[in-house]
Amino acid sequence: MSEEPAHAARLRRMLFEAWGSSEDPVFVVRAPGRVNLIGEHTDYNQGLVLPAAIALDISIALRPRRDRRVELHSLALGETRAFDLDDVKQRRSAGGTSRTWIDYVAGMAWALGGADIELRGLQGVIESRLPVGSGLASSAAFLLASAWALMDHENRPLPSPEHLAALAHRAEEEFVGVRSGVMDQLAASLGRVGHALLIDCRSLEIEAIPLPKGVVLVVCDSGVPRRLSESAYNERRAQCEEGVRLLRQRLPGVESLRDVQLETLERWRSDLPETIASRCEHVIRENDRVRAAVRALRSGALGEIGPLFSASHASLRTLFEVSSPELDTLVEIASGIDGVVGARLTGAGFGGCTVNLVRPEAVDMFRETVTRHYAERTGGTATIHVVKTANGAGLTHP
Ligand code: GLA
Repeated sequence: MSEEPAHAARLRRMLFEAWGSSEDPVFVVRAPGRVNLIGEHTDYNQGLVLPAAIALDISIALRPRRDRRVELHSLALGETRAFDLDDVKQRRSAGGTSRTWIDYVAGMAWALGGADIELRGLQGVIESRLPVGSGLASSAAFLLASAWALMDHENRPLPSPEHLAALAHRAEEEFVGVRSGVMDQLAASLGRVGHALLIDCRSLEIEAIPLPKGVVLVVCDSGVPRRLSESAYNERRAQCEEGVRLLRQRLPGVESLRDVQLETLERWRSDLPETIASRCEHVIRENDRVRAAVRALRSGALGEIGPLFSASHASLRTLFEVSSPELDTLVEIASGIDGVVGARLTGAGFGGCTVNLVRPEAVDMFRETVTRHYAERTGGTATIHVVKTANGAGLTHP
């Protein structure tokens, strides 16, 4: 039996353990996490990103109910929570510390319902193979898995993956109350095995870019939770918006940092507070690095990836100030290993993970060196995931 059917069969057993067995049909849905290769903090500035969906995912095994009740059991937390589909119309997440995981499911139901998409009640179990809060977009994966669990699959046509991603984004921002760009939801919904997605966050055009055969994706989790990341993330967004506001006073055509060239920024730089100018510079240069990385991947010029990843990391550290000592250490160690094509922090930063492109023959050495040196230098434990790319969210059983 291949891994997927075996996984679905195991989840089905867990569903029966949690909710009792019955003859009702069982569905298994899943949604992947993502690792962003390059293009960080550009999505909410209408810029370019290059994420790949990964085989670390969130699955839900479920049985539809005949009423509107949604009952879910989290295997990781050993916790059951429920809500009624008819109640989400008025409700919003409590926000802050009283927000819980079921708010994501309720939020997805709220967004789908608002788009007149047919929903049904269910009993289900959730299994995550995706570390939470480590910058691999577990919220987006959970929202997309929830969307697939809540929709009535027999009721076709189903919404497009682009539409589902937009609704998941809406659920997260407006119902759950957490701001994010569109990258994570699009990657979780539209990912493609063997590819990264070049997403233009202004036009929402997406192009699948094949990943070269001679490298594997390795994610290193620094083990440091992303503390204060929500407020710091919102602050960075506000600073970028402030940059746009100030530049627009000189150049009325500017709607986002996507409209600003480096020369333009330099021309007006002295009119901007230094921090604001640094944030803008990161975003403008990062968009160029995404373009350059795509050219390098397309032409197989892997030697060009390393300097681009290094420049991206350095810019996130010094200009955008979202790195951490642990992430810097991981990148430094990785960059010194033979066979590492590129290394940088991935996701929002403030802790979480790095992404590394590594030659297959160097993976064992990479694992050993990074684990040992990271422990020596930080006293912490790095978790190394060699990840496969994956397809976007959907039904895996039947
Ligand atoms: C988080 C957000 C994304 C994106 C990244 C930074 O992962 O959810 O939308 O802004 O940070 O690139």
